[in-house]
Amino acid sequence: MSLRQFILSRKLLRSINVVANGIQGRWKDVAELFGLREDVFENPSHIPFKRPVSVILIGAGHRGNIYADYALQHPDEMTIIAVAEISETRLNKFQKKHRLNNESCFTFWNEVFNTPKFADAVIIATPDHLHTEPALAALEAGYDILLENPWPQQKGNAD
Ligand SMILES: NC(=O)c1ccc[n+]([C@@H]2O[C@H](COP(=O)([O-])OP(=O)(O)OC[C@H]3O[C@@H](n4cnc5c(N)ncnc54)[C@H](O)[C@@H]3O)[C@@H](O)[C@H]2O)c1
Repeated sequence: MSLRQFILSRKLLRSINVVANGIQGRWKDVAELFGLREDVFENPSHIPFKRPVSVILIGAGHRGNIYADYALQHPDEMTIIAVAEISETRLNKFQKKHRLNNESCFTFWNEVFNTPKFADAVIIATPDHLHTEPALAALEAGYDILLENPWPQQKGNAD
């Protein structure tokens, strides 16, 4: 039995009082105890990458950093090779974190598209009002894109 199957059966285990208090949520420990495979976080349709996807991040705010952190955690899948961010503080912090050289750090999103395509994809994590233009520019330049969704709780979007 894989860990995935084990977790799927946990309802049954609970109902027959097999799982003691405190054990739930510590699935890796349980798996180890029973010699189960740790496949719960694996995507069954995952295809190993031949090389990491190179990405330019536009907007190194809250969401942008969440995506970019993925690159640090999975360098075999994704590399951040450039960033555009208008806040100098955020830009500097991001530059250090991802070890980018000065030439790979832009202030305004549109500066990214002054040079021919130099990455596989662009992640657009700018505020809601600044989604369309960078997305169209990125598509026009031939990039694959990950475009953030508008977030209802953001100021101005409440209704
Ligand atoms: N925060 C969330 O939980 C959440 C969830 C879902 C979707 N979203 C969406 O994700 C997007 C980003 O949200 P956020 O919370 O990360 O906002 P944020 O303000 O933390 O990040 C946006 C970043 O874009 C930068 N930016 C603004 N104009 C720019 C420009 N011209 N060029 C380059 N950078 C520029 C800002 O300086 C800022 O750092 C929004 O569309 C939001 O609705 C957010």
